[in-house]
Order: sequence, then structure tokens, then C-alpha cells
Amino acid sequence: MQFQKIEEKIIIVDFGSQITKLIARRVRELGVYSEIFTPKEIRKIDDFSKVKGIILSGGPSTVTKKNFQSIPKNIFSKKIPILGICYGLQLIARLYGGKIKSSRKRREFGRAYIFKKKRSLLTKNFFKKKSAVWMSHEDAVVRLPKKFRTVAYTKDSKLTIIENTKENIYGVQFHPEVTHTDKGMQIFKNFLFLICRVKKKWNVISQKRKLIEDVKTEVKKDKVLCALSGGVDSSVVALLINKAIQKNLVCIMVDTGLMRKDEFKQTYKIFKNKYKLNVKLINASKFFLKNLKNISDPEKKRKIIGKIFIEIFEKEAKKIKKVKFLAQGTLYPDIIESRSFSGSKTSKIKSHHNVGGLPKKMNLKLIEPLKELFKDEVRVLGASLGLSRSINFRHPFPGPGLGIRIIGSLTKEKIKILQEADHIYINELVKNNLYNKIWQAYAALLPVKTVGVMGDSRTFEYTCLLRAVISEDGMTADYFNFPKNFLDNISNKIINNVKGINRVVYDITSKPPSTIELE
Ligand code: XMP
Repeated sequence: MQFQKIEEKIIIVDFGSQITKLIARRVRELGVYSEIFTPKEIRKIDDFSKVKGIILSGGPSTVTKKNFQSIPKNIFSKKIPILGICYGLQLIARLYGGKIKSSRKRREFGRAYIFKKKRSLLTKNFFKKKSAVWMSHEDAVVRLPKKFRTVAYTKDSKLTIIENTKENIYGVQFHPEVTHTDKGMQIFKNFLFLICRVKKKWNVISQKRKLIEDVKTEVKKDKVLCALSGGVDSSVVALLINKAIQKNLVCIMVDTGLMRKDEFKQTYKIFKNKYKLNVKLINASKFFLKNLKNISDPEKKRKIIGKIFIEIFEKEAKKIKKVKFLAQGTLYPDIIESRSFSGSKTSKIKSHHNVGGLPKKMNLKLIEPLKELFKDEVRVLGASLGLSRSINFRHPFPGPGLGIRIIGSLTKEKIKILQEADHIYINELVKNNLYNKIWQAYAALLPVKTVGVMGDSRTFEYTCLLRAVISEDGMTADYFNFPKNFLDNISNKIINNVKGINRVVYDITSKPPSTIELE
């Protein structure tokens, strides 16, 4: 798919950094369309007329070896401005005859302070009295390449920013795309608007009509099936497709019984009554619980939930005639992650539950209207489609739901206890204006019972764990720093109102080393 009226774009070449997609996001946040390509894919582009700038990402490779990851040299002669970040800088230096060394002495990880040496368009309004930048490199450029000059340096690396203004080629050793770099956005602003001279034209709302038209053209008079979970992505997909084909969109909501208190039924009502979607609610909670009885292994639980979900969905879908498409809320980061640049598979930490197995099994064609968008863009689209704030800004919720937030085996009683505790927690976050400051928050039920005292009686009950994290995309996360009185208050409220819990703990681990969910 190609967006309409895109006259200018920035290409990002992904050399395998975990955070390449942040670069693409930053560019789009500034109102310029960006796309990510692997070094292999970039060789296949034959029309560069709309490409107004190229950004070379960081990555785990090294240019000190003979066979290093690169891009065709003729790209440098197209007169398109280029910005290299970390590995990107080293690659530029290597191709222009600089010297790069892998050296323990010069490696920098984490915060470093950067000092100005010369004025540059790239660093206009960037330097503060003391500017911190985020570093993550072992290799360093130790000899300036020909035709380049040094713009800035740190204590450990003399060539932190370099430029060749004649050819419009720039390189930074640090990562301006991460929030830990002071004024990192200024580097992108300068590159885009002063060096590439692009205009601020991209925004997702202007693409809405095109997205709707695309669905109409593709689907024609056929039917589309959609597994609606009430999360942001599937909700926006459903509203968008509904705008295109109305009743020919059939949504199925499978209630696993593992959702937050009342949330699923409320969401169903909103879609049915407010948005007038053709939506069917299947209550399968008993069936899920029966199949999960005495299962305590996290991976087994995840697999069972995923399998049953697919079985139920398939059974219901069969009742609907003439379906040709399955709608999915795939986003751009999912696409980027699934086409890893090296082709290597990262080790599996958790098997995620989604409906990915469905299209093949049911012989359906996938329709993924959000696959070029980032989450924040999906939310903007959601708002313009009238999606209620409570759904549009809802925290992420995993497919297996409370099934992976009750550690160990599940029972109806445990689900009820957790739903109550979680409900109190989330309501308090909203009441205290904290909900929107947190990326994801939830309560979990630990399988440990401990002794407590309430009134004059001894209690022996479950422990509730509270989690709240800030994050950009769930790949890494920090725990949220609550004011002490919030923690005092929430602990009191949960223990006083939820029978079955006599201890509340707050999880203060970040990701890594922990993950966001417990199972
Ligand atoms: P972890 O626990 O891996 O979670 O740090 C990262 C993000 O992914 C969510 N998550 C899931 N989402 N199906 C989903 O749709 C799943 O099976 C699943 N497991 C984890 C998690 O809530 C967090 O936002």
C-alpha cells in the first residue's frame, strides 16, 4: 500500500538496532512521512524521486570486519542528504576513508556529555550549557574521514558529530531518537527542515479517506470478519472497516471470562448501540475455565487460551456465510519486527496470544488497514473516527488477560478476587489523574498466602501485586514512581474492600530484567 499524496518521504535504513522504529516515529511525529527498509530492500528501490533524506540506523554489526553491512555506494551520489546514527556514522566514516576501531577505551554506554566544537546546521539550538546524550557503542571513529569535519566531541570520543556539508552527509555517534538524549528531537528537526528542506505535510487524518477507500476497493461486496477485543487496535480497525462496508463487517467478541471487571460487556454495548456495528458476543467463560483447570504452567495456559479462542472463533465464523476476509489490527512495528534484518529469530521469551493462526486455517484473506501506522497514529485515527477516549487511551491488555495475571492455576474465586482488586486500582489511578501518565498498570494475584490480622482475627489470604510501568512501546519499561500516599491509600482500599487479599506489594523492577507481565 502506498499513501496518497505523499510527495516527500524520509527513508530509514535498518541495520538491526532494537530502536530503529523510534527513528521512524520521531520523523513522523515531526509531520514527515518515513519508511523503514533493510539494506537488502534498499537495493531494490529504483525511484528515489520522493526520497528527500536517508537516515542510517544503529546496529549490532561492525565495520571493522571485512564483510560489513552496507548500502550501495551510488546512494551517496544521489545528492540526497544522509544522517548516520551510531553504526550509521561508522559506516559513513568507513566508506569515506576514516578509521574505526573497536576499543574498550573509547566505548561508551549510557549517558555522556557532549561539547560543541564548530557550528553546524544539524546542531542549531541543540546544545545546552551541559548536554547529555545517550550512547551505546563499542566501535568508535578514530580518524576523521576525508572531506569531513568535527562538530562535537565527548570525553571519550573525539568524533561524536561529523559533517560533510558539501555533500550533505552527517553522522552522530549517540542516539538522538531516545528520550534520554537532551533535545534529541532538535537533531531530527534540523536534519528534516534545514538540511533535507522537507515540509510538514504528513498526518494520519489526511489519510483516513484513502484508508477507507482502499478497504472498499479490496473487499467489494464480500464480507469481512473481525475478532474484536475492545483494545485500541481492533476497535480502530472495526470502526474504519465499518465506515467502508457497514453491515458486511461482522465482528465477533469472545468473552473468555478473563477480562477486567465489567469492561468487556460495556465495550460490547458501546459497539452495538453507539457505533451500530454488526457485533456478536460469545460468552465462553465457563469453557475457558474448564479447560484451564489445574493448569499452572504459564506457557501451557497461554497455549490453551490461544487454542480455545481460535476454536470458538472458527465455530462462530462458520455460521456466517460468504466471508472472504479477516481483519487484523496489525501495526507498523509488528511488520518491522517480523522482518528482522538479519533473518535471525530472537529467542522466544513468551508465546504471545493473538489470532495469527486464523487466516491460514480458515482460508481467509487478511486485511490489515493499520499496517503502516504507529500506535500513536492509530489513536489519532481512532479519535477522528469517534472512538471513545476510554477505549482509545486504554492501557494495553494481553490476549490471555487475567489468565496470566493469576499466577498458577485459575479458579472462579481467584478471578473474582483479582477483578475486584484490579477494578479498585484502575479507578484510583483515573481518580488521581495518574492513568494517562502510566503506559500500563494492572493488579496480579500471587499464589502465596500469608498471615495477617484484621480486627482481632488472624487471616491467611492471598497477596496482590500491583504493577505500573512507563514505556514507549513495551520493549523496555521502567516502573512508575508513585507518591507514597497513593500507595498507602491503594493498599488500604484493596485490603478493606476485597475479601481474599490481606497483603499488597508494588513491583519495582524494570524491563529488562523483568518483563511487564508476570507470566
Ligand atoms: P511483556 O510481558 O512481554 O509484555 O514484557 C510486553 C507487552 O505485551 C503485552 N502482552 C501481550 N499482548 N498478547 C497480547 O496481545 C499476549 O499474549 C501478550 N503477552 C504480553 C503486555 O501486556 C505488554 O503490554
